Amino acid sequence: MNETFLKACRGEKTSYTPVWLMRQAGRYLPEYQKVRSKVDFLTLCKTPELAAEVTIQPVDVLNVDVAILFSDILIPVEAMGMKLEFSEAKGPILYEPLRDDVSVLKLRTIKPEEDVPFVMDAIKLLVKKLNVPLIGFSGAPFTLATYMIEGGSSRNFVNTKKMMFQAPDLYSKLMEKITATVISYLQAQIDAGVNAVQIFDSWAGILSPVDFEMFALPYVKKIIASLKGNVPVIYFAHNSSAMLGRVKQSGADVIGIDWRIEVPDAVNALGNDVTVQGNLDPCVLFGTKDLIRERVAHILKGIGNAKGHIFNLGHGILPETPVENAIAMVEAVHELSSNA
Ligand code: CP3
Repeated sequence: MNETFLKACRGEKTSYTPVWLMRQAGRYLPEYQKVRSKVDFLTLCKTPELAAEVTIQPVDVLNVDVAILFSDILIPVEAMGMKLEFSEAKGPILYEPLRDDVSVLKLRTIKPEEDVPFVMDAIKLLVKKLNVPLIGFSGAPFTLATYMIEGGSSRNFVNTKKMMFQAPDLYSKLMEKITATVISYLQAQIDAGVNAVQIFDSWAGILSPVDFEMFALPYVKKIIASLKGNVPVIYFAHNSSAMLGRVKQSGADVIGIDWRIEVPDAVNALGNDVTVQGNLDPCVLFGTKDLIRERVAHILKGIGNAKGHIFNLGHGILPETPVENAIAMVEAVHELSSNA
């Protein structure tokens, strides 16, 4: 197996910088569109053979150094008892969003092997087929809570913040339930064979640093401290450049950064004892191949004496991205970082 990614997670020397792209399996790939044209998104997530097939596609097409399981952060939320739908126009919809004690009390803490067996089945298929490591993942409790409280995506997250500030006991009850679910969900993925896990905190950046520390960070810390099995943990809190010191307190082995910060400033804030993952603006992939190469070189140069570096975008690849430019980015990372 290609160990470059795992070595970088651990801060060991590598002969080049490993690279993958958040949301690398998805709509920008014609190969994905072909599979997706036959089934809806949730069916795709719940059919292990198909989920495995689309997980492998970007490894073959882009030559990335790691695969990420094809699924969605809202899969365990559905298993907790909320009705989930993906609408083409609006994205995810969760029916009967949580606004009171009764709705929070009704939520179940999941048993992954019974409630979402298809996730572990896909992992078991993949570890047999892949020649690169496999990343499992979960949403972070705060990000999952925003979807559960708002009922979908949101602009100002008023309902979430109302619960935080008006009903802190209810909020913490909800967060404890989500945290217990995330721990058992990630542990089940580790037991099924994933080589690393990533925790996506897509909405952490809507919180002030102080509120992040109070209302989001403790639960992430608890998850990371609870996981057994010695696989690296990546924590990606989107829009968190102004609070990287706090993000680091999560205890993750690898910290994801977005493009709103220069890499040397991020390394300065994080210190030299965690690996950094990031941080190309996904929209740079709409530029020319020369521009892509320039920006890749700039990021590689900025990493300096960080413990380790995994090249990635600063957030998910966008559906309109030309595949050839994603390929050019991966090539540029491999070539420019190679010390062979
Ligand atoms: O990275 C990968 O390739 C693995 C697959 C993956 C998906 N979702 C597939 C997906 C991962 C890791 C996710 C995580 C996820 N899902 C996050 C965190 C990452 C981030 O981008 O911040 C979030 C916030 C979600 C929730 C979600 N799922 C939204 C808001 C949407 C609609 C918007 C969009 O990106 O399409 C989805 C749908 C979704 N998840 C698709 C895919 C491939 C598109 C579904 C389709 O085929 O129509």
